[in-house]
Amino acid sequence: MPTINNCRCILIIGATSGLGRKLALSILSLPSRPIVIVCGRRQERLDELASSYGGSGRLKTMRLDITADPSTLRSAVSNIVRAYPDLDAVMFSSGVQHYFDFTRPETINLDLLSNELTTNYTSVVNLIVLFLPHLIKLGSSGRPTFLYLVSAGMAIIPGAWVPNFSASKAALHNLSMALAVQLRRKNVHVVEIMPPLVESEMYNRLPHRDRLATFWMPLDECTKHTMAGLVAGAPQIPIGMVAPVHQKYVAGKLEAASKILQNHEENRKGNPVNMNSGFMPRTH
Ligand SMILES: NC(=O)c1ccc[n+]([C@@H]2O[C@H](COP(=O)([O-])OP(=O)(O)OC[C@H]3O[C@@H](n4cnc5c(N)ncnc54)[C@H](OP(=O)(O)O)[C@@H]3O)[C@@H](O)[C@H]2O)c1
Repeated sequence: MPTINNCRCILIIGATSGLGRKLALSILSLPSRPIVIVCGRRQERLDELASSYGGSGRLKTMRLDITADPSTLRSAVSNIVRAYPDLDAVMFSSGVQHYFDFTRPETINLDLLSNELTTNYTSVVNLIVLFLPHLIKLGSSGRPTFLYLVSAGMAIIPGAWVPNFSASKAALHNLSMALAVQLRRKNVHVVEIMPPLVESEMYNRLPHRDRLATFWMPLDECTKHTMAGLVAGAPQIPIGMVAPVHQKYVAGKLEAASKILQNHEENRKGNPVNMNSGFMPRTH
């Protein structure tokens, strides 16, 4: 499978802080010297990135709120593709996380619930749809292209204190596998990054942030593991304690999804195949 080293121009959404920011800087330092477009809502963070790293001429900034309405997203995508026709990778590191206690439903803010799902899932899938015509066209011309999705360990086993976050990441996890098997034939390579609990600004407002800090994975370490997976061209990059969880619950699923798609296509061609056979667990 092609790797991040093949990438000439990457857009990273959610690069104003945390993992997205660190990955943007690591990718900028690759020997292949790609153009890196960093994206997020906070203009002052984008300005700081531009003034610290823009001197290379390869770090570009772009302000975008991915929860914008579809027509705003559509024109943002067409502006990006027009400005950067070489764009061959899009990474979605944007995300929000909220605690919801369903034993006290009166405390649940439905706007926040909906925004979490939109940010972590619906807007991502909308943007994927909007970027795909460009990526598929480039892929068909022989250039490998990439979609990098950042899910979470909680996509596999839910964190019950963040049920909607876990569900949004589980949706992204399933989408990522389905798109990986559909799009590989178009030379569009879908990669899922699955972080554990990682040092993050996301936790700054929590009263127990300092306790979390005693066992979260340092951001540099998470970035290092992610880069190793990106350079190796792994289709899924489970990091730290997510690796054994992935081994137990996810290993083999991509191959099974591929088999189920093949069975589905045989049936559509009129060749009867038992669709259920793809779901059977491996016996060896
Ligand atoms: N840290 C963890 O423990 C952990 C664990 C599992 C998975 N993850 C996932 O890893 C990814 C990175 O998390 P992180 O820890 O690096 O968090 P972070 O530091 O809070 O970064 C989140 C990024 O998302 C961007 N963002 C949020 N809402 C946005 C919107 N509406 N439009 C555009 N950008 C938006 C933020 O930029 P602006 O505010 O400037 O828009 C920021 O750059 C997320 O998808 C997160 O869910 C994190």
